[in-house]
Amino acid sequence: MNETASTPPARDLLPRHIGIIMDGNGRWAAKRGLPRKMGHQEGAKTFGKIVRYARDLGIGAVTVYAFSTENWKRPRDEVDALMDLLRRYLGELRQHKDDNARLLILGDRNPLPEDLRQTILQAEQESRENTGITVNVALNYGGRDEIVRGARQLAEACLKGELRPEEIDEERFSAALYTAGQPDPDFIIRPSGEMRLSNFMLWQAAYAELIFMHVLWPDFTPEHLNWALWEYAGRNRRFGGV
Ligand code: IPE
Ligand code: IPE
Ligand code: MG
Repeated sequence: MNETASTPPARDLLPRHIGIIMDGNGRWAAKRGLPRKMGHQEGAKTFGKIVRYARDLGIGAVTVYAFSTENWKRPRDEVDALMDLLRRYLGELRQHKDDNARLLILGDRNPLPEDLRQTILQAEQESRENTGITVNVALNYGGRDEIVRGARQLAEACLKGELRPEEIDEERFSAALYTAGQPDPDFIIRPSGEMRLSNFMLWQAAYAELIFMHVLWPDFTPEHLNWALWEYAGRNRRFGGV
């Protein structure tokens, strides 16, 4: 199946915010008789390339799903390998100031190793003023977990008398999520052939255009993104209107 295009659509047809469920690393490795963590290593390279390409196209924000609240079920050495890749990525991000990417981590950081939490804070602080592209890395992220936390936060504000229940509307609810202040994704891409969200951005995806592709994430190239962007450009977004 050819899911590539050599050029992207015109800039005014591009989404402002893209979500990517980076899936298929394990199958990529299995096909080659390699350990799963090699697939994650290749997937991490793809991630860097695709973010740079999206930035060059003028896309404002990319949210990548790197580790779900359910991924802790995986073998310990695979989880460790994924955390190591993250450390490496954050280290590189801090060195390559020329990338001009603003980094934000979405998800519950508390269960993460202490050194990683520190590195995340530093990388977020140092990249705060960058204007090239916003890169949200969803890490120990779950859409349901995010919604429950938001609800709890609003309930606490009500108990303290800072908020009345009838003041809770969609805007306030959005502001209690990890993506507070950011536009919803216009477009969510999932490679690897699976056709599900797997707990990704459940609230924010309300009106996102969804695209499922067959390519495995480590094989994903800028040409695959071009193809997906053409697909997006051809969609008729109605938001419930006519
Ligand atoms: C996605 O690739 C990366 C993470 C979930 C961390 P997978 O590891 O899920 O790859 P497959 O789905 O087994 O091929
Ligand atoms: C979703 O992929 C999570 C990430 C890509 C980080 P999974 O591979 O964990 O999802 P399922 O298990 O196929 O639904
Ligand atoms: Mg998977």
